[in-house]
Amino acid sequence: MKRFVLKWGAALALGVFAQVTSTVAMADDATQQLVRQGEHLARVGDCVACHTASGGKPFAGGLPIQSPIGTIYSTNITPDPATGIGRYTYEDFERAVRHGISKNGYSLYPAMPYPSYAHVRDDDMHALYAYFMHGVAPVSQANRAEDIPWPLSMRWPLTLWRWSFAPKVAATEPVPGTDPVIARGAYLVEGLAHCSACHTPRGIGMQELALTAQQGPAFLSGGGPIDTWIASDLRGDPATGLEQWSETDLTTFLKSGATDRTAAFGGMTDVVQHSTQYMTDDERTAIARYLKSLAGTKGEAPPHYDATISTALHSGDVTRPGADTYLNSCAACHRTDGKGYAAVFPALALNPVVNGRDATSLIHIVLAGSSTPGTKAAPAQFTMPPYGWRLSDSEVANVLTLLRSSWGNHASPVTAEQVAKVRASLPAASLGAAPQP
Ligand code: HEC
Ligand code: HEC
Ligand code: HEC
Repeated sequence: MKRFVLKWGAALALGVFAQVTSTVAMADDATQQLVRQGEHLARVGDCVACHTASGGKPFAGGLPIQSPIGTIYSTNITPDPATGIGRYTYEDFERAVRHGISKNGYSLYPAMPYPSYAHVRDDDMHALYAYFMHGVAPVSQANRAEDIPWPLSMRWPLTLWRWSFAPKVAATEPVPGTDPVIARGAYLVEGLAHCSACHTPRGIGMQELALTAQQGPAFLSGGGPIDTWIASDLRGDPATGLEQWSETDLTTFLKSGATDRTAAFGGMTDVVQHSTQYMTDDERTAIARYLKSLAGTKGEAPPHYDATISTALHSGDVTRPGADTYLNSCAACHRTDGKGYAAVFPALALNPVVNGRDATSLIHIVLAGSSTPGTKAAPAQFTMPPYGWRLSDSEVANVLTLLRSSWGNHASPVTAEQVAKVRASLPAASLGAAPQP
């Protein structure tokens, strides 16, 4: 790269441009190729999701990210020399992305998923660097300081965090004999695609309990709340994980944001919209095959469909708490048999998300509604309206308790207190309002 720049400068100075154009064109092709590769990798790593504020310029930073100690703002990673990373050498860039150390030497908040990015190979890092230096438009936009009160705003504890929890050595080599497709899936999921940042439970220090499959069964076994959404279990658990999903269900979901039975919502919508829909078919197949290789760990019995409630609802029997709400507000789309409409309205029966241990996502979606991601593969968006303005905490609790114990679903009841807590954490505008007369 540097040699190419020197040649180019010297050629211009000597005015012999025409003679060297062919060399330049070749070097240029190689750079362009690297930049394009980096652009693709930036999508796999979903850099844009965090580094772009809503309505802001791509990669100029400023997106507020809630953390347990206060609000952090993502930074400008455009090549602007004054406010972005234009003065970063490859080494500076690599240290920030893989090791969480800024150019100034301070430690980054692990809201930047560098513990996962630590697994990215050198060649991929070089392509990412080429893209951020040459493929991204520079934007002059100063970084915002975090809204974290002193003394929590001091960064040295982050250094201790980094020493304790971030991987010291990058890139886990695949266990010898691993199927190459599965090994590629592991490389993507554990590394650049950082699926575990949301889908793995965190410990007392907010660290992920496992960063790779080898580090233990907590890996991808379901995360805690992020923005009041729960990323579900991606291991082979029959009721709450992906045991019922085929490899094709998974690749379809990652490409289009939906399968016949379910659709992405919450934090997963952004992941599909900005990242997985742009992956290649090979990458999605590798991810799917790798996820299907992760054994379940919860000892769950395989669920079986049970039509008791369907029969009751169908005949208008609303003796069970929540049944009247379901018939009036939900059944039009999700149907009395809980099976929804294939590829349009998700099935609630035997749905791993509905059976998840933590009901936060379900409360959130009923209070605030949601739209399926629009993707290249499935541009039509389907919307569930918000019910927060219309249903009380106990009505939401009852209808979700009904959902979680009907059609073969087996999950704990939801209480009005849980609903009140989620309601309090959501902006009032997201709860909807009565239609104007
Ligand atoms: C889940 C959110 C998230 C994702 C995804 C993410 N980042 Fe970050 N990144 C952050 C946050 C937040 C910070 C600022 C952390 C701080 O101030 O301590 C940051 C900081 C950085 C920095 C340090 C900048 C500086 O000022 O020193 C670089 C470089 C960076 N990110 C590059 C990337 C790249 C490249 C990708 C994609 C491969 C990426 N980030 C993906 C959240 C994210
Ligand atoms: C920003 C957080 C976040 C990241 C990163 C993330 N997910 Fe998710 N994911 C979620 C949430 C929240 C859900 C639950 C909502 C839903 O089912 O769409 C989910 C659901 C899913 C589901 C559907 C599970 C089900 O039973 O319905 C699959 C499959 C999935 N994620 C795969 C992945 C893969 C593969 C990656 C990495 C490429 C990934 N996710 C990265 C937040 C995330
Ligand atoms: C107008 C049609 C419609 C109505 C009425 C409706 N929903 Fe939905 N529901 C949807 C759509 C569309 C999605 C997918 C949203 C997404 O993926 O972002 C969805 C998703 C869900 C999900 C997440 C399931 C998954 O895997 O994606 C749950 C749980 C849910 N709805 C419950 C309810 C409840 C409870 C009610 C009644 C209070 C209700 N819905 C009323 C259309 C509807």
